[in-house]
Amino acid sequence: MATPDPTHYRKPYRREDDLGTPPVQSDVPVTVSIDGTPVVVPEGTTVMRAAALAGVNIPKLCASDTLEPFGSCRLCVVEIEGRKGTPASCTTEVHDGMVVTTQNDALAKLRRNVMELYISDHPLDCLTCPTNGDCELQDMAGAVGLREVRYGYEGANHLDAPKDRSNPYFTFDPSKCIVCSRCVRACDEQQGTFALTISGRGFESKVSAGEDQAFTDSECVSCGACVKACPTATLTENSLIELGQPEHTTITTCAYCGVGCSFRAEMKGNEVVRMIPNKDGHANHGHACVKGRFAFGYASHPDRVRSPMIRDRRTDPWREVSWDEAFAHTAARLRDIQARHGKRSIGGITSSRCTNEETYLVQKLVRAAFGNNNVDTCARVCHSPTGYGLKTTLGESAGTQTFDSVMHADVIMVIGANPTDAHPVFASQMKRRLRQGAKLIVADPRAIGLVRSPHIAAAHHLQLRPGTNVALVNALSHVVVTEGLEDEDFIDARCEPEAHAAWRAFIAEPQNSPEAMEEVTGVPASSLREAARLFANADNAAIYYGLGVTEHSQGSTMVLGIANLAMATGNLGREGTGVNPLRGQNNVQGACDMGSFPHELPGYRHVSDPAVRGQFERHWGVELMAEPGFRIPNMLDAAAAGEFKALYVQGEDIAQSDPDTQHVTEALSSLECLIVHDIFMNETAKYAHVILPGSTFLEKNGTFTNAERRISPVRKVMEPLAGMEDWEVTMALSNALGYRMHYTHPREIMAEIAALTPTFNGVTYELIDRAGSIQWPCNARAPAGTPTMHVDEFVRGKGFFVPTAYVATDERTTRKYPLLLTTGRILTQYNVGAQTRRTQNEQFHDEDLLEIHPHDAQLRGIAHGSWVGLKSRAGETVLRADVTERVMPGVVYTTFHHPSSGANVVTTENTDWATNCPEYKVTAVQAYPVTQPSRWQKDFALFDEAQRKLAPPDDATAHARVK
Ligand code: SF4
Ligand code: SF4
Ligand code: SF4
Ligand code: FES
Repeated sequence: MATPDPTHYRKPYRREDDLGTPPVQSDVPVTVSIDGTPVVVPEGTTVMRAAALAGVNIPKLCASDTLEPFGSCRLCVVEIEGRKGTPASCTTEVHDGMVVTTQNDALAKLRRNVMELYISDHPLDCLTCPTNGDCELQDMAGAVGLREVRYGYEGANHLDAPKDRSNPYFTFDPSKCIVCSRCVRACDEQQGTFALTISGRGFESKVSAGEDQAFTDSECVSCGACVKACPTATLTENSLIELGQPEHTTITTCAYCGVGCSFRAEMKGNEVVRMIPNKDGHANHGHACVKGRFAFGYASHPDRVRSPMIRDRRTDPWREVSWDEAFAHTAARLRDIQARHGKRSIGGITSSRCTNEETYLVQKLVRAAFGNNNVDTCARVCHSPTGYGLKTTLGESAGTQTFDSVMHADVIMVIGANPTDAHPVFASQMKRRLRQGAKLIVADPRAIGLVRSPHIAAAHHLQLRPGTNVALVNALSHVVVTEGLEDEDFIDARCEPEAHAAWRAFIAEPQNSPEAMEEVTGVPASSLREAARLFANADNAAIYYGLGVTEHSQGSTMVLGIANLAMATGNLGREGTGVNPLRGQNNVQGACDMGSFPHELPGYRHVSDPAVRGQFERHWGVELMAEPGFRIPNMLDAAAAGEFKALYVQGEDIAQSDPDTQHVTEALSSLECLIVHDIFMNETAKYAHVILPGSTFLEKNGTFTNAERRISPVRKVMEPLAGMEDWEVTMALSNALGYRMHYTHPREIMAEIAALTPTFNGVTYELIDRAGSIQWPCNARAPAGTPTMHVDEFVRGKGFFVPTAYVATDERTTRKYPLLLTTGRILTQYNVGAQTRRTQNEQFHDEDLLEIHPHDAQLRGIAHGSWVGLKSRAGETVLRADVTERVMPGVVYTTFHHPSSGANVVTTENTDWATNCPEYKVTAVQAYPVTQPSRWQKDFALFDEAQRKLAPPDDATAHARVK
């Protein structure tokens, strides 16, 4: 049933072009002659790059256009008229009128001599080497015409150096190392981890991870930059060693986080040999993290759901059925429920992991085929306050910048985000800017990785108590206002004067001063004042924030407060500034854009607007409801109350990801029909009556939109395991329900989105393919997209300041619950872990731990590594302790990547006042030593076992592997 389109985007495998040294930014043209050919390049360009641009490839080994010139191998020597000797072309800059010779007998001899030395200490096992045919050393031996090695192999050499196979994804074979330092420089310059060094001197020189440790014992974070940079087979992907050289390549986009890295899926037949970060990717510029680069094995994991399944009750065994039977059965159940309980008794949840096109279809299914607005998305539980706060103040619900904008920032403020773990590739770019001298302010209850890392130290770490963000941002703005640091010209020209005056009067009140707020936030007033001055006095200051801002009862207030601060200091509308929400999942921005909220049609237009509704009604041929539908918490409450009866969930695992697990599972248990459309039998599926197999990002066409509003291509490299892409499944379900949908390819869905959504009017697959990616708004006013928003005026016209009174959360510490729990993510696992737990990333992190300060641990008799009970008024779970000073006294922290750890058993039903975003980041808890799992964990294990037995025989074995 899948659309035939397997080879459209497929290109034969070819190594990426490499011009030797990076481009330079200069408007001054310089003319240089390369072997008699004139070429004009920007001032500061190297001879090597100028030659490459003229079509002359000078031999090289230590140079790469993704790394700063280094000049160690001496293979790239040239002659320059009027200059003595043979300078290295990779480290020599051109000047006007320069005359360069890249090839003559003398140069050829020099290069052959260099190569001869390399090859004399290199195993000549090319025929059995994994990179045979795709090795730069091999290429260079050919390029310089090396025919013999005079030195023999009898002398001292490194041919017996042992391999390091500690990393699950790549092998280090030092016998093949030419000590070119490309790996070391990639780790330093691109990744910013500084895990590698060249130790020893002369013949003893060698690459060392950490302090001569195994890669996995060092600081290495497995990003793979060194592997990509290595010109030999010294650092090689294990998948390449196993499968051999790829045959063809397709450009696609990572399906993990909101950075949206572009990749070349390098394939052999239908197998992915490796995922190589695309140098032309606008979000990642050839870099990646361990998830996108290596953790793609889940796509072929035996746990994948391979067939539709149905059952009448959740105590019945699953029955595998055909797609047609599954659709007919599901449609009949939904229509029967609506006949008995009313049109509004059913709803759907769209997925931030699925494509824009798929998400659009699910909300269309709910509005047009279900006939109500009961559609919501996981952004409800992450960035819904961003939508509310930015729309109110600036007029558009999205981040304002490109990622590259950070390279123009002089001061970077990171609030409630942990980019090195959750947005690693952007974190590497940010770290690059910080190493160039930009100043860093971190506001976070934890000492996140950015606070102190190699060559980076935050100017200020404002270590606030969880739940006091608004007090902190108000105090920062108070300093700006009362110390005369506002950007008055910007405010006068760009903002509503009455709103500004009201906000200014509010924020200047003494109750908002750092001194008054010190008691609340725990942040010393002097640090806060200094941080505010640093931010306000910068030429360009940018704010980056994450779920530590939004997942609070005052999440929306905090987003308003951040926008106020940016407007007050004039930090919007140009590069290096802005308000930048770091989106969690790959397509959470897109899911919001596509009309996943119950009150908004695609493009953030309210369902109550008759003109907008009329446009959709004409296009879709149905009458639409004018009242907003249920949000996820409303659906769950109504289900538990017996008033909401059926739910279609695409690509979300609300039983694990949503707060107050007991309430969620009670609600799911109350449904008459739960339809789970997913790639795995997840926690939610255990409560389901229908399972529809999902397709991975490798198995479908479509687009994702990242945190920069960048729409990037997702391109099919293999057929869907169960035969249907997700958009086809939704379409077939709609047709079974009697509402006709007909598309033959996702590009037709995008054409419909573009026709109906003003910010997408100019978006087409042809444009995306041509440009690589495009940032919305993309329409007649901005045909090439919009990298920076609000340049001359805000989308809403004038910027709108909103007073943001600090209101303490109801979630307070008490004698019974004296600690504050906050939650987050780690680098190697992703969200509920459904994908990453089915990869070798498990080697890095196979359980959720409870971080607790040594003082709190000692007080309670909790030892590092011991079992700890964690109890809130919502529930109780048990985790192992990580006693660490990363958290402050009084605060504990955990992740939520493993279902059995039950982090959300403990989180409460508290939500943001404006959007119902759950308050994951503040839960009053007690911690104490225990020796056995909690009651909930024992029940979870029993339920899991019972459900495992209900799976069809093949799936039962697979199911058993899932923790
Ligand atoms: S491991 Fe590769 S990149 Fe690193 S020094 Fe050796 S040959 Fe060069
Ligand atoms: S994998 Fe990444 S972090 Fe590890 S050594 Fe290589 S470049 Fe550094
Ligand atoms: S940073 Fe995010 S988008 Fe990029 S490779 Fe890692 S997980 Fe994928
Ligand atoms: S490529 Fe220029 S010195 Fe190595």
